[in-house]
Amino acid sequence: MVNQGKSQTGQKGGSNAERAMEALKRLTPKLLIDGKFVDAKDGMTFEDLDPRTGEKLVDVAEAQAEDVERAVQAARKAFDEGPWPRMTGEQRGRVLLRLADLVEEHADELALLETLDNGKTYSQCMSIDVPGTAQHIRYFAGWCDKIEGSTIPVATEGFTAYTLREPIGVAGQIIPWNFPILMAGWKIAPALAAGCTIVLKVSQYTPLSALRLGELALEAGVPPGVFNVLTGKGAECGDAITTHPGVDKVAFTGSTNIGKKIMEGAASRIKPVSLELGGNSPVVICDDCDLDAAVKGAHEALFFNMGQACECGARLFVQEGIYDEFVARSLELAKARKVGDPFDEDTAQGPLVSQKQLDKVMDYVESGRKEGAKLGCGGQRVGEAGFYMEPTVFYDVKDDMAIARDEIFGPVQIILKFKTIDEVIARANDTNYGLAAAVWTQGLDRMQALTRGIKAGTVWVNTHHILDAAVPFGGYKESGIGREHGSAALEHYTQTKSVYVPLPASKTQRSWVTM
Ligand code: NAI
Ligand code: MG
Repeated sequence: MVNQGKSQTGQKGGSNAERAMEALKRLTPKLLIDGKFVDAKDGMTFEDLDPRTGEKLVDVAEAQAEDVERAVQAARKAFDEGPWPRMTGEQRGRVLLRLADLVEEHADELALLETLDNGKTYSQCMSIDVPGTAQHIRYFAGWCDKIEGSTIPVATEGFTAYTLREPIGVAGQIIPWNFPILMAGWKIAPALAAGCTIVLKVSQYTPLSALRLGELALEAGVPPGVFNVLTGKGAECGDAITTHPGVDKVAFTGSTNIGKKIMEGAASRIKPVSLELGGNSPVVICDDCDLDAAVKGAHEALFFNMGQACECGARLFVQEGIYDEFVARSLELAKARKVGDPFDEDTAQGPLVSQKQLDKVMDYVESGRKEGAKLGCGGQRVGEAGFYMEPTVFYDVKDDMAIARDEIFGPVQIILKFKTIDEVIARANDTNYGLAAAVWTQGLDRMQALTRGIKAGTVWVNTHHILDAAVPFGGYKESGIGREHGSAALEHYTQTKSVYVPLPASKTQRSWVTM
């Protein structure tokens, strides 16, 4: 059973759960448009639920197409007439540095809201989600005054040419529920650095932390209308953003199915899209690995964030010589993983985000049983209230079972056996996804063969989940289009203008260079 309401005392008095409710009371759960919190059209709201209990936390404004219109107009005006794209890069950088500082100063409050809304542990929010958001914003603050064009020597006599890199305009950004504030940070930081303005739609399951981030952005000096936040559902609000003629570019993180819809919606106006979609990432454990590190690494690769991570280590391929021991030790770890109130410091696994997600994951558990995979542990819901489930491990899984083919997105580890490196590369690649992979080996040849052979946007060696702001991240195949992080992310938010300029007519008056 899960101990409800017994969360530990935080550093500022009151239990963490009580302090989270205080933070919620201070928040305005409305749409952030043009620097103000406003109601949705006709005062429409939806219920935001507490994943620990399944009960209502708060009514949140539900953006309609008319609200998207208002937000796009505000972002349009801020881009076409406002100061943000016209500031120097250095000035924009200072504002983003202030925002990064404010996120750190409010880390506790943001972490409390995030745990309350999503069910992920407060300790994870404090150590990863919130600091990662600040770090991402700070990294892109550094880019603001380094976005450069180039001077190009041309064949046409008497001319020179150069390029300007201009902000693309209004960015429509749609994010999921699994890392609400971190995904908001990943999306807004490069867009703001480039001088774009933003309409961000957060998931209806986790609307809270981005509203507070929007407020902090205003405090940092981001002008009103530059960063608008809409809380609403996908079909209405998300689709209205994707197809709106005033939105110049769409960025999306979420499921591959909705990614396909986003592409269709954006096609009508030839809008560039960047998509970070689902994954079914292989983890390959070779028989020459450091076994202790690999068992723990593979466990965290899957169970981190309740398995609700696009880059999680979903298909665990273990070489036959160490297979039995690896399975036994993986089961021990999974059985010991503590499920409980995410505000408790010793909890490793909180509830899943929603009843819908719990049902989906439990359906996969059922399907694994029916298809004959061996259930090593777990497989049950925990308690009657909230969306908790047991850490679950299936082994002796076959490649064609649904639990191996699909993205489960929950705390269910899938273990498969392999013999040779060539075989495992082929099997790892036998998927429509290609987001990430991890390989565990001490051998240089194997490491090279696997990292080069597996088709994925990111490959980790003897580790997992490291996603640095400076390193490109994104998917091969149906896992997405484009890369986030690093200079790659700026490509999505800038476009190149080529300028041809005549040189002085007399060759003697030209400089001695040919450019
Ligand atoms: P989803 O893809 O439906 O939702 C992601 C975002 O897209 C949300 O903000 C949602 O409101 C919005 N959206 C939904 N329909 C839309 C539309 N027609 N136009 C524009 N925006 C729309 O993900 P969902 O339903 O929350 O989760 C379902 C599955 O998706 C999960 O079980 C998981 O397998 C996968 N997923 C993958 C994520 C990733 O990071 N790759 C993140 C979240 C979910
Ligand atoms: Mg919620």
